[in-house]
This record gives sequence, C-alpha cells and structure tokens, in this order.
Amino acid sequence: MMMKEIDICSGQEIISRVVFGGGDCGDGLPACTLAEYLKPYPEVFTVIDANVAEKSPAASSVCAMLKERNIQLYAVEATEQSKNMETVLAICSWLMDCNAGRDALVLAIGGGITTDMAGFAASVYKRGVRFAYIPTTLLAQVDASVGGKTGVNFEQYKNMLGVIRQPEFTYVDIRLLGSLPYRDFLSGAAEMLKTFIIEDNGNYAGAVGMLKELHSSALQLCGNRDGALGQLTLSEVMMKAEAEWGMLSHLVAESIKVKAGVVSRDQFEGGERRKLNLGHTFAHAIETLARRQGDDLTHGEAVAVGIVMAARLAGLCPDIAPLHDCALAARLEADFMACGLPVKCPYDIPGMAEVMSKDKKAEGGKVHFVLPCAVGDVGIVDLSVAEACAMLNN
Ligand SMILES: NC(=O)c1ccc[n+]([C@@H]2O[C@H](COP(=O)([O-])OP(=O)(O)OC[C@H]3O[C@@H](n4cnc5c(N)ncnc54)[C@H](O)[C@@H]3O)[C@@H](O)[C@H]2O)c1
Repeated sequence: MMMKEIDICSGQEIISRVVFGGGDCGDGLPACTLAEYLKPYPEVFTVIDANVAEKSPAASSVCAMLKERNIQLYAVEATEQSKNMETVLAICSWLMDCNAGRDALVLAIGGGITTDMAGFAASVYKRGVRFAYIPTTLLAQVDASVGGKTGVNFEQYKNMLGVIRQPEFTYVDIRLLGSLPYRDFLSGAAEMLKTFIIEDNGNYAGAVGMLKELHSSALQLCGNRDGALGQLTLSEVMMKAEAEWGMLSHLVAESIKVKAGVVSRDQFEGGERRKLNLGHTFAHAIETLARRQGDDLTHGEAVAVGIVMAARLAGLCPDIAPLHDCALAARLEADFMACGLPVKCPYDIPGMAEVMSKDKKAEGGKVHFVLPCAVGDVGIVDLSVAEACAMLNN
C-alpha cells in the first residue's frame, strides 16, 4: 500500500525521508505508524524536550509506546540558552552511559532546538551514528527537521557550530501540534510563509487565508489582548476557528515538499538552497540583538520582520528593483500583520549592521541577500552589509 512519504535525494540516491503518521494526511493517503519505521533499528535512544513530554498528550502516547519497547528516554531543556555544546556533550555522556553502539539510532522528539542538538550529538558521537526526528512544532515540521542542518549556538551567535547530516527519517504527525502554544505555532507559520514566498504553487494565499482566520479567532479567545496569545494552545484556536486539521496538514506537506526539492537539488548550500535563507540575515541579527537586550522574540517573529526588510531592500537594490513587484513589501506587511506576525524591526540599522557583518554566511565581505521579487519568485544578490544597510537607511 502506498504511504505518504516525501524523499530527499542526492542525485538518484534517497538520503532521507519525511513520513506522515497519525491521522488525516489531507490527501486521502494512509498514514504510517512509528513502530513500523523503528523496526529496522536494533538500538534506539530517545532525546525528548522535557516540556513536550509533560504537555503533549500525543507525545505521551509516543513515549508510552517507546517505553513498552524498553527504549530509554533522555529529557533536555529546549531554550536558546541551553542550545549549546554543554547540552550536546551531556547527550553524548548519556549515550556512553547507555553503552550506545555504532548501530544506535538517536530519536529526537521536540521542536527545532531539540532536533538541532540531538542531530548534532548523533553526528559526532562515535564519529556519527544514525538519527531520526519526530518534530513537535510547526517550525520543526516544515523547516528544522528537514534538510539535515544540525548545530548549536556559540559565543552569542546562532547555530555557529554544526554539521549538515541527514536524518534517517522525519516522522510528521500533525496531532503533535495540538498542545503547542499559539505563539510558537505562529513562529512556524512564518517559516511556512517564507517557503511559499520562495515557491508558491498557489499555497501562499491559502496559507495566509487560514492563518488570518486562526488569528482573528485567537484574538477573540483572549479578548483582543496580544500579550495573552501565548497562553492559548493551537487546539483551542483551531476549535474556535472551526478550522480543518486536514487543511493544515496539506499546507505542512506542501511546505515540506518545496524544502525537500530545494535540498535535493543543493544539499550543501552551494547555490539554490541559499534561497531558504530568505529573511534570515536580518532575522539572525535581530535575534542576536534581542538576546543581548533581553527582549522576548521567537525565531519566526524575527524571520517575519526579516522577510519584510528583504522585500524593502529588493525595491531599493538596482540589480533587482526592475524585476520587483513594487507593491510586494506592503502586501507582505499587511498579510503578516493580519496573521499576527510582527513586521517592524525593533533595532536601528547601524546596530543591525554591526551584527550582520559577523554573519557566518558572509563570503569575501559580501552576504548573499535573498530578495523577493514577487510571491513565488526570489533572487540572490551579493552585497556588503554596508551597501545593504546604506540602501535601507535612506
Ligand atoms: N536545522 C534547521 O534547518 C533549522 C531551521 C529553522 C530553525 N532552526 C532552529 O530551530 C529552533 C527553533 O525551533 P522551534 O520553534 O521548533 O523551537 P523550540 O524547540 O524551542 O520549541 C518552542 C517551544 O515550544 C515547546 N514545545 C515544542 N513542542 C511542543 C508541543 N507539541 N506542545 C507544547 N509545547 C511544545 C518547546 O518546549 C519550546 O518551549 C531555533 O533554534 C532555530 O535556530 C533550525
């Protein structure tokens, strides 16, 4: 029987798979069970976000199944502060204590912080053992758990240490998102919208439509107080909006399909994969400044602001402005705001420039800026940080 599965390839070879578990896949194809996917692995060791273990009923039932099979669990704290080498080394120590051999599979259950750290630990433990992911946030389902980037923060810089190495499989079950705080859901929504701005296939408008409805229901639920949104779960908002989980499931699969295609064509980011960094040069600088100043901002919120800045830059940059839809920045701004995402950069351009000049993706003093021309059409322009910031500052 055909299962819903998206392959990630290198040439003709399948190097990783995204498989869809749980219930409705949104397209009538049957879902697979996790137990089936774990069968080929003799030794499995699970690293789980402590928060997920506690809050997600769907994750609890996965954990119960793993415990029945005598699979050991190690809980980690998933914060940007704990996304560091100490936690990676603690995971490695635990694997050693468990006598995990070269045949081991490390199974990470959690959001992008957990999958990035566990994937990195598995990549260096005994010179690399296999690993797989069960992403529990929207951001991890559509982005962090697909494509093989692993790593940790170092010396105040995001994801400064890491490797690209593919998981055996990523098991996506939309039901795991039910307990997700709505603000974390929105963070993933920003990455999903980013993907559809890179490659639309008619999905951008559908995603914006659904997110707008969800956001207006979320605001009703919390009496129009933005600050209270974080206390809602996605399940509560979906129920109020009478939204279809099948529609969300479809959008998640479409978003993964785009990323899987890009990664299959350019695994190590020599060219096309750079497009997936849309908004991220600005977003990483915003996150660094937010950490320094103790401001509270999710990754997706920073990405949303970064995308709008990139759209503004596209309109100002002589190499790309003639190809650019001049109404794009305004359209994205209006759409993102209606979806509940921020659009204004909270920091000044000179402060951003200082941080961006240390971007790990800078080559020969230039950064590959990903600039959107229209929804579904982005270009890459090499600019120095000073050039880009001078254009934005005028
Ligand atoms: N590897 C990549 O390609 C890639 C891509 C994008 C982002 N990232 C990284 O991903 C990280 C952000 O990932 P994230 O947004 O998934 O964050 P996260 O892992 O911090 O999760 C966000 C919050 O949600 C909680 N949570 C997770 N799942 C839950 C659930 N089902 N129910 C209730 N609570 C839940 C977590 O405990 C945490 O408090 C960043 O560190 C970023 O650098 C990596």
